[in-house]
Amino acid sequence: MVTADREREAMRRAFALALEGPRGLNPQVGAVLLSPAGEVLAEGWHRGAGTAHAEVDALSKLTPDDARGATAVVTLEPCNHTGRTGPCADALLAAGVARVVYAVSDPGQLSAGGGAHMSAAGVDIEAGVLESDGLALLDSWLTVQRLGRPHVTVKWAQSLDGRAAAADGTSQWITGAAARADVHERRSAADAIVVGTGTLLADDPALTARRPDGELFAHQPRPVIIGTRATPQEARVRRHPLPFLQDEGDDLPDLLDRLRELGMHRVFIEGGPAIATSFLRAGLVDDVLVYVAPTLLGGPRVALADIGVASIDQQRRLAFSDIHRLGDDLLIIAHPQEEN
Ligand SMILES: NC(=O)c1ccc[n+]([C@@H]2O[C@H](COP(=O)([O-])OP(=O)(O)OC[C@H]3O[C@@H](n4cnc5c(N)ncnc54)[C@H](OP(=O)(O)O)[C@@H]3O)[C@@H](O)[C@H]2O)c1
Repeated sequence: MVTADREREAMRRAFALALEGPRGLNPQVGAVLLSPAGEVLAEGWHRGAGTAHAEVDALSKLTPDDARGATAVVTLEPCNHTGRTGPCADALLAAGVARVVYAVSDPGQLSAGGGAHMSAAGVDIEAGVLESDGLALLDSWLTVQRLGRPHVTVKWAQSLDGRAAAADGTSQWITGAAARADVHERRSAADAIVVGTGTLLADDPALTARRPDGELFAHQPRPVIIGTRATPQEARVRRHPLPFLQDEGDDLPDLLDRLRELGMHRVFIEGGPAIATSFLRAGLVDDVLVYVAPTLLGGPRVALADIGVASIDQQRRLAFSDIHRLGDDLLIIAHPQEEN
């Protein structure tokens, strides 16, 4: 009998395997097959569109019958449809797997139902193991599946009294080095980094993802500037390794559609307050990242303007999903509750 601890350990390994696969249109998925005694029989991951899914990749490393009675630990519910590859649920059934454990249920209209299908065939199923880690791993893919648009994260740094800049508009820096390093790491995981022309002209940001020593991360987000004012010839963003896109910002859902069509599924919005306000007011935000510094700025430069809450019964409730201490600062991660 495989213990629950062993299955969780295998799930963490499956998350790491999933990250071996390319990010893109298809989900990153990892799988670990455990013997009835809890030993690893085989591992697999999904290498991209048209290639074997993680479970089938793992099974392919075994001879027939090796997986009989095994437990399959998979980051995403095994699929139940015949796409370019056959249904994983049937492959696991044919291999004689006795138990299947997965983190995230498949939201796909065609591909969902693998768990129920295997359960009906007598396989022991457990869904939702380390689910929040699985949801974080698959966040952009899940958002594209559910909402048909990229996953949108809005980030800002603020003083303890909720100001995003001092009265004269200067905001560099409110937070310390550890918080800024964290931002750069998150930028490197994004496909697009968005700022308004207000921020572009006030701060002249480079919009690259850099290590603390200044070295660029291997993966850079594409800069996107929103606004009608021209980007100055000498702007640092012009030296970004990827050419920037500029959009007038009059139709944010359309902008997100175009970013998705260009293969950008993870959009990181870095302000300023006017842009953050517009995305939040339009209900286009999946995660809010607020870096809070133990400092007071006072004055008019609040982190958000009118997001459409005229009265307390219209307040926009969020759920905290994580709180980190970064040097002297805090990072609070929250997401709109209606998206749960
Ligand atoms: N603390 C932080 O995390 C942080 C982050 C970034 C910036 N800041 C600070 O914030 C200040 C700049 O922020 P900001 O609020 O003035 O400017 P912003 O949000 O960077 O840009 C606003 C501009 O974007 C354009 N725009 C186009 N479509 C828009 C839409 N749908 N919604 C909103 N704006 C749209 C407009 O300019 P056009 O006239 O060109 O169309 C608008 O004036 C600076 O002081 C900067 O230092 C702080």
